[in-house]
Amino acid sequence: MSADALPLFDLTRRWSTEREAALAVFERIAAAGAFSLGEDLAAFEAEFAAFCGTAHCVGVANGTVALELALRACGAGPGSEVITVAHTFVATVEAIAATGATPVLVDIDPATRCIDPTKLAAALGPNTAAVVPVHLYGRPADMDAIHAACAPHGVAVIEDAAQAHGALLGGRRTGSLGSAGCFSFYPTKNLGAMGDGGAVVTDDADVAALVRSLRHHGSAPGDANIHDRVGRTERLDNLLAALLRLRLPVLDAENAERRALAARYRERLADLPLTLPPADAPDMTSVHHLFVVELDGRDALRARLHQAGVASGVHYPTPVHLQPGWRHLGYGPGDLPACERTARRVLSLPLFPGLRPAEVDRVCGVLEGALELLPSDTRRADRA
Ligand SMILES: Cc1ncc(COP(=O)(O)O)c(C=O)c1O
Repeated sequence: MSADALPLFDLTRRWSTEREAALAVFERIAAAGAFSLGEDLAAFEAEFAAFCGTAHCVGVANGTVALELALRACGAGPGSEVITVAHTFVATVEAIAATGATPVLVDIDPATRCIDPTKLAAALGPNTAAVVPVHLYGRPADMDAIHAACAPHGVAVIEDAAQAHGALLGGRRTGSLGSAGCFSFYPTKNLGAMGDGGAVVTDDADVAALVRSLRHHGSAPGDANIHDRVGRTERLDNLLAALLRLRLPVLDAENAERRALAARYRERLADLPLTLPPADAPDMTSVHHLFVVELDGRDALRARLHQAGVASGVHYPTPVHLQPGWRHLGYGPGDLPACERTARRVLSLPLFPGLRPAEVDRVCGVLEGALELLPSDTRRADRA
């Protein structure tokens, strides 16, 4: 890549604006020696619950464990099944397997890139404990149809909101749309920490209490020396929570910036032979964790972007059901056709708060030139 290379994410650009406040947080926490289960963790939990519109939030060590503990608290475990998609980061399926439940993978709707509610309805069975819709790329899944399928069976809906902090559906935030919502604060996420972190948000006091106990050695409320159950060490660090408290107040503004950049991409790319991300449905506000276009011949285009100094990504090139470590689930090529086709075609373009509009124009210019050079049979676009 050239010296003026454009990265997919640049996590250094915000440092100059938050440096002073962040250094003050380090100073305050270090001087107090308050590293574990401190006041900042409790304050962040209250603030993030209020942001999501839920009664409770429990900070945990990462997004994968948020999903695992929320699933366990909602009844998933050995002998049960949990339904999700294969077009997601592997962590969604890992978390299900970690509970002892069997992951059941269903296809996506290629138009939304999220779970296909019809396929979900067909996969529900007597052993289904929960469904995990993934709000992929920052766009909420079709929660009304998902609830309509699950409610008659009494199946819990646990949102994987790791890519959708702050998104809205029907005036409510993702995370508040099911029995529990699970977030990752991995550094590149819309609300990213300076390290790994995660949270479970819920209105259910029992679910919150169970996750709170499981994250801290199965401790009883009010007495850390009584261990009601076999637990784990999965707390969100107080220091990271204190730093997240600096970023939460600017999350909505950063998401608005992401939306403006996505709108610019949309306008600039409208006439090119590639498929743009789905527009928001009525009463939906996506938060563009990623800006993901689709086309045949993706890898050739990626190579040309790379030559021009523009980084891109593929989220995700090999669906979970075709990963070597997941063969034991018994799926094979062709089992989830929409997912497999989408995985061959997706291409993530640079998008992050602090990306300049001129840089979006640069990416679009490179794309335009590159698409002209690609053989026409490799660049079919079949969705408006
Ligand atoms: C959709 C999805 N689910 C779960 C996770 C897991 O989060 P973490 O990396 O914090 O464990 C991630 C992110 O990495 C993700 O993108």
